[in-house]
Amino acid sequence: MNQKKIAAEKAVEYIQDGMKVGLGTGSTAYYAIVRIGERVKQEGLRIQAVATSKASEKLALEHGITLTPFERLDRLDLTIDGADELDSQLRLIKGGGGALLREKITAFHSDLLLIVADEGKLVPSLGAFPLPVEIIPFASEWTLSALEKLGCRAELRKDESGHLFISDNGNYIADCKFGIIEFPEQLQKQLKGIPGVVEQGLFIEMADKAFIGRDDGSVDVLDNNIK
Ligand code: 5RP
Repeated sequence: MNQKKIAAEKAVEYIQDGMKVGLGTGSTAYYAIVRIGERVKQEGLRIQAVATSKASEKLALEHGITLTPFERLDRLDLTIDGADELDSQLRLIKGGGGALLREKITAFHSDLLLIVADEGKLVPSLGAFPLPVEIIPFASEWTLSALEKLGCRAELRKDESGHLFISDNGNYIADCKFGIIEFPEQLQKQLKGIPGVVEQGLFIEMADKAFIGRDDGSVDVLDNNIK
């Protein structure tokens, strides 16, 4: 069973005609974009869409989804995006695909953030997945050392050819191995205090619902009761 696909397709059912929609990034958001494209073609669904990465922009256009410039929209009705990890409070680690900054900006301006994931992403505590942090290239070694003072091992991400990974915004991504993150809210504040950190991959009190695909073909829908 393709858990990512069934989770993504369930979330796409929430999109109604006329909505303003944010398109996430990654291999699970991929299925959401493909399904939205099908609904546009088959049902004549009309939406105004923005994308959270250059890759998702391209994918959307290939699937017949017209993109609207950000400045033409004040808010979005919903965004559908993936996650690298999520816990039962719908706190997330994101940025495995390097799109965390655009994803967070888009999520912040969305009335609803719908997370789509396979069941392996649901964890008791965040942190087994190294926390992605987007940093400015200037004096990046200093920024890395400030990150490590928070108790992690921080490494600049490389691409498949071994070159430094550059985000869509021209920045580096530091993958920070903290191990289990006991107090994500506190860590978020500490990360924000480091000059050179543009954004970090903890998404707290942002997700409204999570759609978790299971091997038996079912999709669990988790609600954020805290937000
Ligand atoms: C990209 C992200 C993705 O949503 C996250 O990495 C999950 O990706 P996938 O669905 O491929 O596992 O945050 O920056």
